[in-house]
Amino acid sequence: MKNGENAIRFENVSKAFGKRKVLDGITFDLAAGGVYCVLGRSGTGKSVTLKLMIGLMKPDRGTIRILDREITGLDSRELAPVRAKVGFLFQYAALFDSITVGENIAFPLRRRGERSDEEIRRQVEEHLDAVGLEGNYDKMPAELSGGMRKRAGLARALALRPSILLVDEPSSGLDPITAKEIDEVLMGLREKHGATLVIVTHHITSARRMADEMLVLDNGRVVARGAPAELETSEVELVRELFRAEDVA
Ligand SMILES: Nc1ncnc2c1ncn2[C@@H]1O[C@H](COP(=O)(O)OP(=O)(O)O)[C@@H](O)[C@H]1O
Ligand SMILES: [Mg+2]
Repeated sequence: MKNGENAIRFENVSKAFGKRKVLDGITFDLAAGGVYCVLGRSGTGKSVTLKLMIGLMKPDRGTIRILDREITGLDSRELAPVRAKVGFLFQYAALFDSITVGENIAFPLRRRGERSDEEIRRQVEEHLDAVGLEGNYDKMPAELSGGMRKRAGLARALALRPSILLVDEPSSGLDPITAKEIDEVLMGLREKHGATLVIVTHHITSARRMADEMLVLDNGRVVARGAPAELETSEVELVRELFRAEDVA
């Protein structure tokens, strides 16, 4: 997919759980190759939005196009080739703790049917390298720090060389220095892979550092969207609050 084309498009997407309307006719598109940070209060539907992007949840209404394919009506078999192009790192994405770090990253490659151990090892080493974890293939997850485990999760998300990478709160629970390192790894990936990145975060500092554009969700809609410098002067109260929160964070 060329830069400038849409990687992701939501059109009038609604999603409710029981009586609770989470997304209320949300519409947006994200261009291929961009870095987008999604912000908003807790419980506002950020994680739900990511899950809709990989078909882990279905919308009640509306259409979702991923890499130019409408995914709303697809069953899991039809969805598989689309999912293969979308990597995701969920907030609590855990590694399998009984196998090595390297084998964790090899897992999606084996599942895809990659057979040669040598080739798998080579690819895994490359992904470890990309996230700054070179030389950690044979470690057990428990031997890694929180920040390193997060990087390993990222390496696993990258294993299939996705054209879209979805990341849910990569730096929550990490100290500010480690959080900054994760941001840097994400930015490095962008340069290396040219993937479209969608990062949910409530660290405004991170979002400012990384985003081409920020999307702020509230009441089931995008209430503000733009480059960080543009949103700094936003009239929207929630956006002003988000930027103010930086001083206390
Ligand atoms: N599987 C689910 N079943 C019921 N309610 C859910 C489910 N997933 C999310 N929700 C509700 O949807 C709302 C948005 O959740 P979420 O997207 O996780 O928020 P956040 O913006 O903090 O990531 C919350 O009120 C949450 O309780
Ligand atoms: Mg969430």
